[in-house]
Amino acid sequence: MPRPKILLTRRWPSAVETVLSERFDATFNLEDLPMSPDAIADALRAYDAVLPTVSDKLPASVFGGSTIRTRILGNFGVGYNHIDIAAATAQGIAVTNTPGVLTDCTADIAMLLLLSVARRGGEGERQIRAGEWKGWCPTHMIGTKVSGKTVGIIGFGRIGKAFAQRCHFGFGMDVVFYNRSTVDPAEASRYGARQLATVEDVLAAADFVSLHCPGGAENRHLMNTARFSAMKPGAYLINTARGDVVDEAALVAALETGAIRGAGLDVYEVEPHVPERLRAMENVVLLPHLGSATEETRNAMGMKVVDNITAFFDGREPPDRVA
Ligand code: DGY
Repeated sequence: MPRPKILLTRRWPSAVETVLSERFDATFNLEDLPMSPDAIADALRAYDAVLPTVSDKLPASVFGGSTIRTRILGNFGVGYNHIDIAAATAQGIAVTNTPGVLTDCTADIAMLLLLSVARRGGEGERQIRAGEWKGWCPTHMIGTKVSGKTVGIIGFGRIGKAFAQRCHFGFGMDVVFYNRSTVDPAEASRYGARQLATVEDVLAAADFVSLHCPGGAENRHLMNTARFSAMKPGAYLINTARGDVVDEAALVAALETGAIRGAGLDVYEVEPHVPERLRAMENVVLLPHLGSATEETRNAMGMKVVDNITAFFDGREPPDRVA
C-alpha cells in the first residue's frame, strides 16, 4: 500500500520532520513561507493529510467542491480558530490539535508579559540599549508592584489554571476568574482561585486581566470599549490567547486615553501586523506569538501531530480529535 501523502504547511522541528518522513510520503514547505488560501485549497485536493498551523487560513471557501482528497487536518497547535470546522466536517475531514503540551510555556509567557509590563522591563531595556540610562535614582522608571495584587483570568482551561497557579503560589496574588461553565470550587482552590459570575465582576476586581479563552466567533471582541471602561483605573491587560478576543482599535483607544495603564500582548488581530499606534506606546509589551516557542514544547506539539495522524491512518481514533 502506498504511504499516505501528507503536506506540512510550514517548517517544523527537524526531529519531527524526520519521523514524519519515515512514516509518510511527506512534503515539506522548504522555504517556510506562509501558504495562501488558494495554495491550501489546492493542497486539500492533492494530499491525504494537510498539517496546518495558526499562520494558515482555512475558511469555508477552501473546502468547496467534490474533489477534496484530504481526510485529516492535523493542526500543529492547540487553537484551531483559523480552520472553518463546520466546512471541514461537512467534507468528512477529521481535525486534530495538540492540547496539554504547551500549557506551561504559554502560562510562563503570560507571566513574563505581566511582569514586564508592570515593572517596565521592555522600556528599561530599550533605554539601556539606546545608551540613555543616566544611572539609579529614587524616581527612575517606577512601575507597579505585582506581588499581592489581584489577577482576573478570563477562561479557566488548562492554561488559565496554570497561570493562576503561578500568580497565586508564586506571587501571592488573589486570583479570580470567569469561565462559561461552573468550575468545582475545590478544583479552583487547588490553583488558589475563585470563580466570579460575570466577566464584568472579574474586570471590576482585577489589577491585571489575563485572557485564556479560545479565539473564534464565540469570543470575538470579548474585550471591547465597554469592557475596557469596566476595568479598574490603572489596570493592565495581558493577552496570550488569540488576537481576535480583543477589539484592537478599542484597546489602542483605552491605552491612549489612559482608561487602562498598560498591556502585554503575544497575539494580534491580523498577525503579523501590529498597529503602529501600539508599537509607539512605551506602556505596551509586544511579543511575536511566542507562547509555545520552546524547543521542548514545539517538539512535543509536533509529536502529538505524529500520534494523531498515525492513529488516523492506522484506523484508530486520533487521541486529540476536535472534529
Ligand atoms: C496554539 O497552539 O494555539 C499556539 O497559539 C500556536 O498556534
